[in-house]
Amino acid sequence: MRRRQFTQLIAGLSAAAGLPAVAGVGNPSWAQQFKSALADRPWLLGYRTVQQPRFAADAEVSGSWPKDLTGTFYRNGPAQHEIGDYRYRHWFAGDGMLQAYRVGADGVNHQAALIETYKVQAERRAGRALYPGFASTPPDPAPVTSPDAVNVANISVLHHHGKLLALWEAGSPWEMDPEDLSTRGAYAFSPEMRGVPFSAHPRIEPDGTLWNFGYLSSAKLLVLWHVDKNGKLVKAGKVKADPISMVHDFVVTRRHLVLMVPPLHYSPDGAASSFLDAHKWRPDDPTRLLVVDKNNFDNHFWVELPSQWVFHYGNGWEDDNGVIHFDAARAGDPMAMIDSFREVMRGNLTPSGGSHHHEYRIDTRTRKVAEAPMFGMNLETEFPSVDPRVSGQRNRRLTMMSSNTLTPPVHGHLNEVSHFDYDSGARAVYRYPDTEIPEEHIYVADPSRAAETDGWVIGTAFDWKTDQTLLNVFDARALADGPLATARLPYGLPLGLHGRFVHG
Ligand SMILES: [Fe+2]
Repeated sequence: MRRRQFTQLIAGLSAAAGLPAVAGVGNPSWAQQFKSALADRPWLLGYRTVQQPRFAADAEVSGSWPKDLTGTFYRNGPAQHEIGDYRYRHWFAGDGMLQAYRVGADGVNHQAALIETYKVQAERRAGRALYPGFASTPPDPAPVTSPDAVNVANISVLHHHGKLLALWEAGSPWEMDPEDLSTRGAYAFSPEMRGVPFSAHPRIEPDGTLWNFGYLSSAKLLVLWHVDKNGKLVKAGKVKADPISMVHDFVVTRRHLVLMVPPLHYSPDGAASSFLDAHKWRPDDPTRLLVVDKNNFDNHFWVELPSQWVFHYGNGWEDDNGVIHFDAARAGDPMAMIDSFREVMRGNLTPSGGSHHHEYRIDTRTRKVAEAPMFGMNLETEFPSVDPRVSGQRNRRLTMMSSNTLTPPVHGHLNEVSHFDYDSGARAVYRYPDTEIPEEHIYVADPSRAAETDGWVIGTAFDWKTDQTLLNVFDARALADGPLATARLPYGLPLGLHGRFVHG
């Protein structure tokens, strides 16, 4: 894509970030409602705001940490949920905090740092909330001059070509210092792509090739990224998507990219007070799947499925007959995002339908698509993960968070980590005690072993009884035995989103 074309895109980005310039409708009482609810539901501590920009401590390790598992587990997530007496009205609105668990022979050391985005710096200078957020607008808001003016860099983290990047999905990656977690600033893969949205779920092939997308709501465009292992932009492209929606994750196979556009239509009508509220759920409309040729972004087609909502995919691959296979945590609608993740910020527990794992097939020759449930409707699932060495190739193992709907935990979150073996059909599972809320867990390969055969599952959990965050490591083959080791921090941190392990 030529520079002029992207300059034109950038001109529309402010609205693309979905930030209507409307009068502020802040409601400071959310902070008070949340504080009151904490007395009845102490697990809500997982949604409190951080009061300081940095944390650092050596963890107390119990059990036996695998000696071959050394490196850094980076995590990101919303953490600053309040500025003064203004509390954000959505879990996804919080300013991001990057964490590093450094694992070695000396034990586990933890660091965390609030990401010093333009927004954080400007609001600190002003001493108040200034900008419209994902689901609310503070009183007397400042004008939004670009998406990166409101970038909260709070979803995930990428370590690629020596760079550590904190990712949002409606603006630039935010570059961080891998050693001290200081903030370097907005990152651009090339000058002409500066400021173009880069989603929080890039897919990296085993050779280091990176694929990603972004969405431009007002322009009704999906942007596609192809970056080589050295961080050089190979090509970028765009595909018209009308209607357009929020798109959070995607699938990469040997020959194709697959993006799902659910019928949560971006349709600002002037009355919407936030980006989220500018979207309308249309359950009678189809979910559209875009299939793109990796070698030529102009070569693409659409297929349709019934309305549904997906945040995350496990993996995608393509067989010799041109059939694309992938799996996803499929929800019937986006009510978790529209309702539950909003209400929890004022202390309300409002269960939504949850997501259940499905498998999908797209025949690229006949352009037919099919979907089917994978593990039964009593099993809610999210955060699917595979060995990074089979990314885009056929996988035979799948790790994810789960919950049995017949035995729900008191806190209402997913409370198990599961590891599925496609060959045997077996599921290994560890159920967390109700006093701990597990966060995303990921499969971490043992670099000295063949893909998917031996490895670990690592993840964090918030112990709301002791107000401490834990890092657990499991043998992937023996999840039911419980953690091999637990690294316990002397403090608790707000519940986050995604992490990535970097061997070293
Ligand atoms: Fe995500």
